Amino acid sequence: MEIIIKPSVVEAQLETAKILRRQIQRKPASVLGLATGSTPIGVYAALVEMHQRGELDFSKASTFNLDEYVGLDPKHPCSYREFMREHLFGKVNLSPANIHFPDGLAKDVPAHCAEYEAAILRAGGIDLQLLGIGREGHIGFNEPSSSLASRTRIKTLTRQTLQDNAKCFGSPDKVPHHVITMGVGTIMDTRHCLMFATGEAKAEAVARMAEGAITADLPASILQMHPVCTLVVDEAAAADLKRTDYYRWVYDNKPDWQRV
Ligand code: F6R
Repeated sequence: MEIIIKPSVVEAQLETAKILRRQIQRKPASVLGLATGSTPIGVYAALVEMHQRGELDFSKASTFNLDEYVGLDPKHPCSYREFMREHLFGKVNLSPANIHFPDGLAKDVPAHCAEYEAAILRAGGIDLQLLGIGREGHIGFNEPSSSLASRTRIKTLTRQTLQDNAKCFGSPDKVPHHVITMGVGTIMDTRHCLMFATGEAKAEAVARMAEGAITADLPASILQMHPVCTLVVDEAAAADLKRTDYYRWVYDNKPDWQRV
């Protein structure tokens, strides 16, 4: 795993956006896996700016989001689809036909999840998957105890996640308890995982993910087994990492052709 520690949240956001920019510039028809949550908002803002400066053309790209709440209309202000419209889809030239989302209103959830997996395969697989991490180590909404081989399916959120996601809904008990999420196995099949985490609340999960044991108790730890995984963090989220001197050394000595 490549671990990039940036001095500030803004610099970490920019680095993450540059990695996404490089992906799209190298392969305009990239298939992107996207995450929601408070952490990537600044990354999406940076991508929108790059697009407005003419550096980024999304017209050939396609996207698959990680997850959606079960029971929420896509137009609900707290749906993840609405989040993406507000922060990215409504501001760049992605073709609506190329945007894919789990359907929180699907009548037959298992059939819909199987179809989501099939759609990813039909698109050629995900080139670059943007990820965030939950305080208890989830990726997507693969909460602790999730099968490390899981595919897209329904999951029940932990009490911690309900609390963390309560802001839009007003209180934790108003947050839908179920989501459809790409599985850990689905995420592991993507060609490049790009995890972005900031703030001290994520420090413990980040350290366990990168340096701890691989365990379903912290699903993100499976990323140690991913052949191409980049972790971008600010200093606060890096606070519990042990080998920071080495990570900084690697970054400072990165060959020019690997830089974004
Ligand atoms: C959301 C997702 C989640 C979040 C994680 C962190 O699509 O997949 O894994 O990335 O819950 O959320 P924030 O950024 O709000 O701390």
